[in-house]
Amino acid sequence: MKKTKIKTKKKNYKLRNKTDQIHELSQLTYNAENLTSQNIKKIRDFKVQSEIINNIIIGDCLDIMKKVEDNTFDMIFADPPYNMQLQNELYRPNNTKVNGVDDNWDQFESFKHYDDFTKEWLKEAKRIMKKNATLWVIGSYHNIFRVGNILQDLGFWILNDVHWIKSNPMPNFKG
Ligand SMILES: C[S@@+](CC[C@H](N)C(=O)[O-])C[C@H]1O[C@@H](n2cnc3c(N)ncnc32)[C@H](O)[C@@H]1O
Repeated sequence: MKKTKIKTKKKNYKLRNKTDQIHELSQLTYNAENLTSQNIKKIRDFKVQSEIINNIIIGDCLDIMKKVEDNTFDMIFADPPYNMQLQNELYRPNNTKVNGVDDNWDQFESFKHYDDFTKEWLKEAKRIMKKNATLWVIGSYHNIFRVGNILQDLGFWILNDVHWIKSNPMPNFKG
């Protein structure tokens, strides 16, 4: 029932004024969130390919992706580790100290280790993407140029470089 509602609203979109559009957008988001909480399960493994649809699979992406068939996805959105390790102390302009990411998943011995990890997940991602699928990868200046290099080496075609302009971004830190 909710699916039909979303479809109808999208169809009439151009006829409505700005305020209605904003209201409808928030309504669509609300409906999408409801659908999510109702239907999506967190699972640790899957036996048949159909189980990956509308579920969250918890695990190491390097293992999980290997189990997915070729040419499966229309879009992959990834926010991988940024290898954001700080060699020295880093302070914000207001003198508050920046804590680097100290979780294990962001610890790589060297750029080579980070690049090997990146190549591995991107290769698998490419295999499980359909031929005209899209990949979005988030990064920071710590890793995104390495990711871009590897993307090109693997034969991805870079279409867009989307920037998020923040008021207090990393390069403005001092230290
Ligand atoms: C930059 S953070 C992304 C955080 C995410 N956008 C969020 O809002 O929670 C990188 C994430 O990748 C996860 N991660 C790192 N290595 C992974 C791997 N091999 N397989 C699956 N997830 C991994 C980490 O646990 C971490 O949550």
